[in-house]
Amino acid sequence: MPSRYDLLLVSRSQDSADQLFSCLTQAPDLQVEKQVITNGDSDPLRGLLSVPDLLVLHIGSGSTNELDAIAQYSPEERPPLIVVGDGSDPRSMRAAMHAGARDFLAEPISEDDLLSSVRRFTAEMKPTRRSQSTSIVSFINSKGGSGATFLATNTAHLLASVSNRKTALVDLDLQFGNLTQYLDLKPKRGIIDALEVADDLDSVAIEAYMTLHETGLSVLAGMNTDFDLQQDLMLEGFDQILALLSSNYERIVVDLPRHIDQFGAATLERSDRVAIVVQQSIPSLQDASRIYEIVTKKLAVPKDRIMIVLNRMFKNAAVELADVEQSLHNLKPFVIPNDFQAVAESVNIGAPIYDLARRSPVTKALLQLTEDLDGRPASKPKGLISRLRGAARQG
Ligand SMILES: Nc1ncnc2c1ncn2[C@@H]1O[C@H](COP(=O)(O)OP(=O)(O)OP(=O)(O)O)[C@@H](O)[C@H]1O
Ligand SMILES: [Mg+2]
Repeated sequence: MPSRYDLLLVSRSQDSADQLFSCLTQAPDLQVEKQVITNGDSDPLRGLLSVPDLLVLHIGSGSTNELDAIAQYSPEERPPLIVVGDGSDPRSMRAAMHAGARDFLAEPISEDDLLSSVRRFTAEMKPTRRSQSTSIVSFINSKGGSGATFLATNTAHLLASVSNRKTALVDLDLQFGNLTQYLDLKPKRGIIDALEVADDLDSVAIEAYMTLHETGLSVLAGMNTDFDLQQDLMLEGFDQILALLSSNYERIVVDLPRHIDQFGAATLERSDRVAIVVQQSIPSLQDASRIYEIVTKKLAVPKDRIMIVLNRMFKNAAVELADVEQSLHNLKPFVIPNDFQAVAESVNIGAPIYDLARRSPVTKALLQLTEDLDGRPASKPKGLISRLRGAARQG
């Protein structure tokens, strides 16, 4: 079941379509497709292989053709409809009513009005569309530079873009967190800002602290801080943030610092899977073993939730796969190969490796890891446009 809502935006005006599109793409729940009608066909639904979850239709002044066409469909056949048009034209209003519109926004519209209209729709849909409970996956490295941030970021990206899960990625490395750079994002707000107002947050307000990646992945940024956060005083607020994310997202991926602080402990205790990232070196394995002990004994996380991810696997390394297994309670590690060039490029330009080097062995392994963590085979994201028979309509 898809986790985001397919919204189809239709207009005869390129300018209006562009303006509405840039507003709608700010909403994290939506996969927005834009359709500009340039020919005589006035039925926005003609040629669609599947009906979108929501239709936003912009109509020009005095024009009711598109609405009249939608009114011909039965209420079961047509998608929920929001109309944007001339509020002073009673004919448009009437036609919108006949077409079963749930909202009519008069031009010039404010972005807030449009987003809250859409939000009302997604809030209503949520209980029926949310089919599985949220699962939290935490990545923690055994030695600095093992690749935890790269793996957390790219796994979250694949969950959102390939597995089509509504996913939040959280940077809990509050001192040196640089996760947003791996996605070339420039966050305006992050977890520190959210913590300051945690008492007042609700499931709508928390979204203002997330930074949205173009794939729909939402990121709660770490925003490097130098001061000591007094986490014990903020633990309640942190719990509240985790709870809100859990109600809004199907998957939460957390990048944890190696030093397990109070937020880290709270997250690990709630994690469905904990991926300890190791490399083929004795110090890395020793530290991984220590993390395993802390997580399973002190934090009482069940052993079957722990997985070892062996990153940058080299065939001829002195420490072999069997050594890794042996030193970590015979847990069979999940192996991610080494591919310096592709990974370095991905990290340096801030583009997910799936977009940059789909054939890299690292991408292939990450796809498998994502399926394993998600508990189901990944499916290709389906764009509405690709389902539109009417590509020709644009010409
Ligand atoms: N599979 C891989 N193949 C090649 N290089 C990799 C691979 N995974 C990670 N790297 C490289 O390792 C470097 C460190 O990765 P990353 O920042 O994800 O580590 P980390 O465990 O989060 O480190 P930190 O301790 O700084 O938080 C990155 O610059 C990346 O280029
Ligand atoms: Mg890191």
